[in-house]
Amino acid sequence: MGSKKDENKCCESGKEGGIWFTISRRNFLTLAGWGLFFAAIGAYLSQLFGYKGFFYPKVLFEPSPRFFVGEPKQFPVGSVTTLKSRKIFVVRDADSFKAISVVCTHLGCAVEFSKEKNIFECPCHGSKYYRNGVNFAGPAPRPLDHLQMILDNNGKLAVDTSVKVPLETELIV
Ligand code: FES
Repeated sequence: MGSKKDENKCCESGKEGGIWFTISRRNFLTLAGWGLFFAAIGAYLSQLFGYKGFFYPKVLFEPSPRFFVGEPKQFPVGSVTTLKSRKIFVVRDADSFKAISVVCTHLGCAVEFSKEKNIFECPCHGSKYYRNGVNFAGPAPRPLDHLQMILDNNGKLAVDTSVKVPLETELIV
């Protein structure tokens, strides 16, 4: 008799098909509740300690479009100064200044200033621009962008690359 009971015991779990059927609905809901609880605690702690990588989208912060480039005396009369990190040229003629974008208006390569020819040239597809930024050869559809330049109260030149100005605009110092 005793051996018959043992047989039934041993076969019960086998009949039900393994571990998934041995967890009752109550146990499952309890586990789910604890899971949610620990997830909420984890989210709270990550906020507390500043870890945001998983819960927030990754955002690229760009530098301000407005920056100082120096004092007027730093730019010799008749010079074109390339500020590569800022992607601009500072063009000085007598007492006037211009900030011109280095970005070619064809497909966006960085143009370079040729001292010998006194023009801007694009190394990608050969567009050429006069010293005032106006295109005259190659596929570029329009002049280089001219950017706002001001002299601040401390006598420093500042450029705002988010503000485009007409070609003829000059800062007279
Ligand atoms: S990107 Fe400058 S000519 Fe094409």
